[in-house]
Amino acid sequence: MQSFRSDFLWGGAVAAHQFEGAWNEAGKGPSVADVMTVGSASRPREITTGIQAGKNYPNHQAIDFYHHYQTDIKLLAEMGFKCFRTSIAWSRIFPQGDEPVPNEAGLEFYDRLFAECLKYQIEPIVTLSHFEIPYHLVTKYGGWRNRKMIEFFVRFADVCFKRYRKQVKYWMTFNEINNQTGFHDEFCLFTNSGIKVKSNENAEKLMYQAAHYELVASAIAVNHGHQINPAFKIGCMLAMVPLYPLNSQPHNIMLAEKAMQKRYWFTDVHVNGYYPTFMEAFLQQHHYRTDITAADRYNLKHGTVDYIGFSYYMSKTVKYDENNPAYDYDDYSSDVQNPFLPASEWGWTVDPEGLRYGANWFNDRYHLPLFVVENGLGARDEISSDGKVHDDYRINYLREHLLQLKKAVVEDGIDVLGYTPWSAIDIVSAGTGQMEKRYGFIYVDKDDQGKGTLKRIPKDSFYWYQKVIASNGEQL
Ligand code: BG6
Repeated sequence: MQSFRSDFLWGGAVAAHQFEGAWNEAGKGPSVADVMTVGSASRPREITTGIQAGKNYPNHQAIDFYHHYQTDIKLLAEMGFKCFRTSIAWSRIFPQGDEPVPNEAGLEFYDRLFAECLKYQIEPIVTLSHFEIPYHLVTKYGGWRNRKMIEFFVRFADVCFKRYRKQVKYWMTFNEINNQTGFHDEFCLFTNSGIKVKSNENAEKLMYQAAHYELVASAIAVNHGHQINPAFKIGCMLAMVPLYPLNSQPHNIMLAEKAMQKRYWFTDVHVNGYYPTFMEAFLQQHHYRTDITAADRYNLKHGTVDYIGFSYYMSKTVKYDENNPAYDYDDYSSDVQNPFLPASEWGWTVDPEGLRYGANWFNDRYHLPLFVVENGLGARDEISSDGKVHDDYRINYLREHLLQLKKAVVEDGIDVLGYTPWSAIDIVSAGTGQMEKRYGFIYVDKDDQGKGTLKRIPKDSFYWYQKVIASNGEQL
């Protein structure tokens, strides 16, 4: 039976700020990731005002890929990678974000990196903005609350599209643009949009304004990208976290429906080029007079995406509350535990079938090819006495998810372009800043205190994934 397409893009994913290190080398400016300290499962990362002496900022060195890229890419090639998803650190190209001219030394790093990938026939898959907004754009402009950000982002996108037009075909504009629906958590608005909410501000309202500017910036960039190279495939990138009703009580069903609308309307705008009716109504009812101009609506219409990239880690479950008769989903008050699903040490449910569900959900509504650009298990790994890392729990997790993805392809007929699990190699966790919440196929010797030799050790999952790729997903 035909399963994954013959040109299926097998690979792995990372983001620049989580693995490159070299945070201030070759002219790079600080990004939002550079002012976030290390946290843990129970202690949030601190977002400091500027970089403060004596604090542990794990992204500054990360795994120092910047100086290890040749040997690291060689390891990915050994695994058989067909593609490698990474991002371009915006502040390497525009150190402050608002300069008229890019930093040549930053551009040259990605010349070298993409050439190294292509040497092994590894196709780079590139995200433009992955939680690494230049910090200066936060302090001077207030991040994406400011319309001027559209101009800065489009300039950055244009420079990247032109410079790498021959090396990169698959692009994504904003990583997990819908993550900021979790706006109660200061991490989400800060990493997605470079916004620190003041005490007299309404975080939800700010989120809708920032998201609108990002969607417009994305659409303009997509439009320009298609002109720069008509062969480009430019996608959006959503965090797919299906929201299930707790049970069959109609109130719960309706709340789950409204919750999905509230988390995924971004996709409607990216794909259709206009706001869905429920979102227009929501903004009106809440008196969120979002700055949306006629020119914005025109731009949205003329910059729709070619495919939907999405991450999938977990599902969530929602329960109706009579204090919320409008079914206004709120992650703090609507989410409840799913009695059927186990969870990781960090509280993320493990639900392989949710990947198939999410793929169907996107496919039913948008009829575009899908690309699973993140999926993985954050876990503690130990080096055994034989010097190896036996991560059978990670293999099981990935196998179960791939079995479901295969069903989505074979039984549901969904066009899936590729699969890039998180993460190609151990990197700094975005949410907690930990090294010890590991996702990679390759162990990196470094701990949460920043200590270690940075030595790379292929884990058991490395050899398992090598076989998966070699068999085009038949040998799971
Ligand atoms: C996604 C992000 O939210 O999940 C990644 O795109 C992130 O940047 C990944 O690393 C896993 O989350 P975490 O918090 O465990 O690193």
